[in-house]
Amino acid sequence: MSATSEHDSSPVVGPPGGKRIYLDSAASAPLRPEALEAMMPFLTTAYANPSAHHSAGRDASDALEGAREDVAAILNTSPEEVIFTSGGTESINEAIKGVAMAQSEAGVGRHIVTTEIEHHAVLHSAQYLERFGFEVELLPVDEYGRVSPEAAAAAVRSDTVLVSIGYANNEVGTVQPLAEITRAVREAATALGRRVPIHTDAVQVANTHSLDVDALGVDLLSLSGHKFGGPKGTGVLHLRRGVPFLELISGGGQERQRRSGTENVPGVVGMATALRLAQDERESFSARTSALRDRLLDGVRHACPEARINGHPTERLPHSLHACFSNLEGEALVAALDARGIEASAGAACTSATWEPSHVLLAMGVPIDLAVGSLRLGIWPSLTEAQVDYVAQVLPAAVTECRAAAVASRQLPV
Ligand SMILES: Cc1ncc(COP(=O)(O)O)c(C=O)c1O
Repeated sequence: MSATSEHDSSPVVGPPGGKRIYLDSAASAPLRPEALEAMMPFLTTAYANPSAHHSAGRDASDALEGAREDVAAILNTSPEEVIFTSGGTESINEAIKGVAMAQSEAGVGRHIVTTEIEHHAVLHSAQYLERFGFEVELLPVDEYGRVSPEAAAAAVRSDTVLVSIGYANNEVGTVQPLAEITRAVREAATALGRRVPIHTDAVQVANTHSLDVDALGVDLLSLSGHKFGGPKGTGVLHLRRGVPFLELISGGGQERQRRSGTENVPGVVGMATALRLAQDERESFSARTSALRDRLLDGVRHACPEARINGHPTERLPHSLHACFSNLEGEALVAALDARGIEASAGAACTSATWEPSHVLLAMGVPIDLAVGSLRLGIWPSLTEAQVDYVAQVLPAAVTECRAAAVASRQLPV
């Protein structure tokens, strides 16, 4: 592979060592070898059903409950308050629909508060409930994607059944002042004589932040295994004791009647192993990835000074960088980088006929012509400085190529 950068007359050879560069850790992180090792017995010889009443079944059940205790310790909760699910999307669906339906059934109300920049698992779950008479209030965000604690508190009403605030945004990496928000919401609810359940989508923060549910002031918390080096198809829902909940998946009554279906023992064991490592390594992960991110940011600024960098300048995930480029389409830029050996993401949704700018960027007030040209770079500690430098080196040519293509096809909104 070879290309020539406009800003650098020397020919650009392929990525260092000929190895493709993975910059999409916000979409999925590499599986940790320790997680795979922990899973192997349960994928091979220890295959019994954990509900079975024989010793092999009891062994599987012991592994499952051991993983539950480990996860509970990390979340500073009890094992009974940990539900294993198939991933972030399922945890979030259960949190929102399960809590809202239970309270609606009890006649408490049908008002849900969340934000304009949530992941679609949250927004579409809330929209689904609107079809059944729920009212969904979306809190606005500022230019950096932050929610104000005061606005969250002001939204609480006597018929509010759930407040759901994402801890960190998966596109721009902005981290919310979650403990401040939950405190303000609690005070507002108490003033109304209520205790309103609070959920957080914590899918993006397991590598970098504490997940102590008491310190965060949340009643429900959702996690996804493949974002922190666990296997895909695994997730956690923390459900505080006493919070009204109607199960979504009915069947054999596993997970204390809250999520039926034979448990994914290998997945759970691998996920719990990865979560322990991710939480133990938070400090070194953040130090390493923020240094790489800063180097990448310098490179992007130098290569494309006109790029708009999105997200909060300080209250942000260390392993994420998000930028918008004018006069191009993000998906085309992803393809141009892919052709140069770099795996990134546009972070925008596409439909068959048109490119739709991200709802997150629009909520932050990013102009639509810039919002369609977005690029999300997700860093992992194994990235090297040489790889970061290569990305900055080839970016200008990729951007120029995409701008030419956008003009030629007149795809961009005017
Ligand atoms: C913030 C956030 N919430 C929820 C999800 C969904 O998680 P999963 O892929 O495990 O369904 C994602 C995944 O991209 C995410 O980033």
